[in-house]
Amino acid sequence: MEHNSFKVPFVHLLCLLLLCPLVSCQLNYKFYDYTCPDLTKIVRSGVWSAMTNDSRMAASLLRLHFHDCFVNGCDGSVLLDGGEKNAFPNRNSARGFEVIDDIKANLERACPATVSCTDILTLAAREAVYLSGGPYWFLPLGRRDGLTASESDANEQLPGFSEPLVNITAKFTSKGLEPKDVVVLSGAHTIGFAQCFTFKSRLFDFGGSGEPDPLLDTSLLTSLQSTCPNQDDSDSKLAPLDSSSSSKFDNLYYKLLLNNSGLLQSDQALMGDKTTASLVLNYSKFPYLFSKDFGASMVKMANIGVLTGQNGEIRKNCRLVN
Ligand code: HEM
Ligand SMILES: *[C@@H]1O[C@H](CO)[C@@H](O)[C@H](O)[C@H]1NC(C)=O
Ligand SMILES: *[C@@H]1O[C@H](CO)[C@@H](O)[C@H](O)[C@H]1NC(C)=O
Ligand SMILES: *[C@@H]1O[C@H](CO)[C@@H](O)[C@H](O)[C@H]1NC(C)=O
Ligand SMILES: *[C@@H]1O[C@H](CO)[C@@H](O)[C@H](O)[C@H]1NC(C)=O
Repeated sequence: MEHNSFKVPFVHLLCLLLLCPLVSCQLNYKFYDYTCPDLTKIVRSGVWSAMTNDSRMAASLLRLHFHDCFVNGCDGSVLLDGGEKNAFPNRNSARGFEVIDDIKANLERACPATVSCTDILTLAAREAVYLSGGPYWFLPLGRRDGLTASESDANEQLPGFSEPLVNITAKFTSKGLEPKDVVVLSGAHTIGFAQCFTFKSRLFDFGGSGEPDPLLDTSLLTSLQSTCPNQDDSDSKLAPLDSSSSSKFDNLYYKLLLNNSGLLQSDQALMGDKTTASLVLNYSKFPYLFSKDFGASMVKMANIGVLTGQNGEIRKNCRLVN
């Protein structure tokens, strides 16, 4: 016993101090076990209290993690002031920065200068899904924070709401993900909201046809037209991405797609291809299959372009480089 309790942290330290500079250290499941044992507890309670105050916050944190990872890797760059925050998909849209700041402040008290902002965001996204009734998955940790954030990279690399499925799929595969991950991770739209401007082109004059998008269920169409009247001042009003259960993480998102009730054009487009439609059908029927695959795809996404070892830094303030 005594032997082990000495040996394990020693090996860990040896890895950190000696091996990391030599070989590139990889993410691992015990990364903060000795340096910040209460990490998960602190993140979970921060996410929980934020969700108690604002039930949409779970969705916002999940999306923030996606936007972190898809722009030059999971490196906390979306959290830096300036840069990516100003890109089109984030400006007046990305939320949850204060929640990450609060969790970071608590962690700086418990284990100063130890936990990266991008690991905090990665864990927060998992807790958000779990606390919304969704699956839980284990995450290897040890990501480090990047030093730069680029507005133009965010504009180019994040998928757009009216981009065709083939283009969105290409963005996913360019990150090392697979076409299947587009279907699985789009299931995140089982929680949260979208502003009218992201789907309004479907409601009145779709593609210059003078008609609404034919791939939009007529009763949902009527309700969306009243939420988003055809005037500019409705652009920031909100509609649930999953009109049947917008705060519960479940598989109803996929059932809605079968009914032409996907909110975004990019959601409904998953039904326009044989392979993706077959996956949608499977996830609509088997909630457990969706839960399992979602966790696996989230782990993959959380591994995109990570900085480890001596690369990057552990930011003290998530909004600023040290
Ligand atoms: C497949 C391509 C995707 C597109 C085109 C897309 C697009 C969008 C858009 C336009 C919104 C609404 C933003 C607003 O109105 O301010 C949104 C919200 C959201 N997205 Fe996605 N998204 C995609 C994939 C993902 C992925 C992979 C995740 C996470 C794994 C995700 C999670 C979310 C969540 C949770 C929300 C709701 C956020 C909130 O209520 O604050 N999305 N998405
Ligand atoms: C609670 O949520 C609202 C937004 O819904 C936000 O403006 C406010 O700052 C939050 N309060 C706390 C204590 O987090
Ligand atoms: C889709 O990708 C093609 C090829 O990369 C590009 O030419 C086209 O502009 C893209 N379409 C949209 C709507 O982004
Ligand atoms: C989808 O449509 C079917 C048949 O029209 C209906 O029974 C079902 O309730 C609808 N599901 C949702 C989630 O709206
Ligand atoms: C959906 O499930 C069926 C069996 O239940 C399987 O044959 C099919 O390959 C699955 N579709 C996809 C795209 O994985």
